[in-house]
Amino acid sequence: MKKTAIILGTSRSNGNTADLTNIVASNTNAVVFDINNYNILPFDYDHNNKHDDFITLIKELLTFDNIIFSSPVYWFSPSTQMKLFIDRITDLITVEKDLGRQLKGKTTAVISTGEYDEPKSCFEEVFQHTFEYLGMDYKGMLYCACAFDESGDNTGSDFDLNKYKERVDNFSDIFKSKQKA
Ligand SMILES: Cc1cc2nc3c(=O)[nH]c(=O)nc-3n(C[C@H](O)[C@H](O)[C@H](O)COP(=O)(O)O)c2cc1C
Repeated sequence: MKKTAIILGTSRSNGNTADLTNIVASNTNAVVFDINNYNILPFDYDHNNKHDDFITLIKELLTFDNIIFSSPVYWFSPSTQMKLFIDRITDLITVEKDLGRQLKGKTTAVISTGEYDEPKSCFEEVFQHTFEYLGMDYKGMLYCACAFDESGDNTGSDFDLNKYKERVDNFSDIFKSKQKA
């Protein structure tokens, strides 16, 4: 079984959250799956979306022991990309129940960035309740404050690793220590 996967959902694949995610990935040998690289459609009660990339992606993620969810805070909530992904987990408790059962017992955590010094509690609670419902083992959230880039030039991240190194290292250690030889 492979060790750690990070599912990244952000509007900027080279932005603050991606930067933080890539640092954790490099510390922990994790593989990053950027939702922007997949065609994930919104939840559909009729399951007419069943041939998009969601089931293929979830099957790949299930080959990992640890699945970390990474999202910026957008309007106190997970990003739209992440919310699409979470909504589609509903497929795993309706039509693809065998896959859904495999989430149970997986280790999980959250990586996030936002403009505020600390996020409002509602952001993390979305994940906590979801993980609890799915029977996943939640290890906590790594959150780092990053400026909101108003320029719109999309030239990349404002993430300051020096400021958050200890926090990032402590979070990474949770997943490093879970790696077996
Ligand atoms: C649409 C939008 C909504 C945002 N809402 C919040 C918010 O509610 N709270 C907050 O702390 N930061 C908020 N921010 C700031 C971002 O969370 C912050 O700049 C983050 O690091 C951006 O990450 P990214 O580069 O992955 O998009 C918002 C930014 C955007 C673009």
